[in-house]
Amino acid sequence: MQRDQLPRRRFVVSNPTVWRLHGEAFGNLTREEPILIPDGERFKQVPTVGRIYDALIRASADRATTIVAVGGGVVGDIAGFAAATYLRGVPVVQVPTTLLAQVDSAIGGKVGVNHALGKNLIGAFHQPLAVVADPDLLATLPRREFRAGLYEVVKYGVIASRPLFDRLVADLPAIFNRDPALLAAIIGESCQIKATVVEVDERETGPRRALNFGHTIGHALEAITKYKRFRHGEAVAYGMLAAAELGLARGAFPEKDRDALRALIVKMGPLPAVADLSAGQVVEAIGRDKKVVDGRLHYVLATAIGQTTTVTDVTSDELAQAAQAIGLQA
Ligand SMILES: NC(=O)c1ccc[n+]([C@@H]2O[C@H](COP(=O)([O-])OP(=O)(O)OC[C@H]3O[C@@H](n4cnc5c(N)ncnc54)[C@H](O)[C@@H]3O)[C@@H](O)[C@H]2O)c1
Ligand SMILES: [Zn+2]
Repeated sequence: MQRDQLPRRRFVVSNPTVWRLHGEAFGNLTREEPILIPDGERFKQVPTVGRIYDALIRASADRATTIVAVGGGVVGDIAGFAAATYLRGVPVVQVPTTLLAQVDSAIGGKVGVNHALGKNLIGAFHQPLAVVADPDLLATLPRREFRAGLYEVVKYGVIASRPLFDRLVADLPAIFNRDPALLAAIIGESCQIKATVVEVDERETGPRRALNFGHTIGHALEAITKYKRFRHGEAVAYGMLAAAELGLARGAFPEKDRDALRALIVKMGPLPAVADLSAGQVVEAIGRDKKVVDGRLHYVLATAIGQTTTVTDVTSDELAQAAQAIGLQA
């Protein structure tokens, strides 16, 4: 996309952390003051959206306005939601600056904020006009954040691409060194996988569910630790390991693939402890999850690295066994 194709008035929404590190690179995108929102998941809530509206209205932003979201998933979700609702919707360009945002949150059109009673409960579907993912922006990302995003790339490999999975295994050290060419390749392939799935199923009734691989137990782990212990991707890493164990126990997932997934995740580095958590807590949390539709859990099962299927007959017992297999208490 050419810059001059964007509607005339561009308002950057970012946060102070990202803007301090990278603001200069976006300086000539617009003459408007950047709208900086506080950094952190705890600010991903309605009042922060209100601050964006305030700034837009004070600047007399009209319908010929584009919002440019420069930041991680939090900025992208909040700014995207402001764009979806301001004047009943103005375009948003997503410029994701975390690996997670580049491979996941900036694509697919889901935008929104949290409610005190639950994550991402307020939102909309608002497809971005463009997504501009520059791997060079990731050079400043803390290692733990980088790793957290990389687990989602592992997920794409498991659900849709053995070659992507194998590339991660082969090139892990160079990827951790943020080699831009390698990053561009894995980000590109990840986006392609997500975009393909989302295109056929924007509202998550069928194929989009595959993207939830590792997320049933992952979300449960986040919830029972009050979203404080794990970065989202770390919880998903555990969730993928558990899904592999569950598949293996059913005879649906080969042992050598379970071993390969485990080896990759171990090689990627340490994960927060889970030994103090219990399988019972996980099962209970899954019962409260959004992925339960009409009382039925749609569980994404890998059948090989590169392939998944969704099943609805997973029992609490199987979930508990899988949770124990990854180190939780009985
Ligand atoms: N909309 C979707 O489809 C979707 C999908 C997945 C996740 N999400 C949402 O994404 C959010 C998580 O996003 P995230 O993991 O990017 O977290 P984040 O946006 O909180 O970013 C993590 C931290 O990294 C900092 N940061 C961002 N870019 C940086 C850079 N280039 N260098 C140094 N520091 C940088 C941020 O300021 C922040 O402190 C959650 O709210 C989640 O719900 C949305
Ligand atoms: Zn995820």
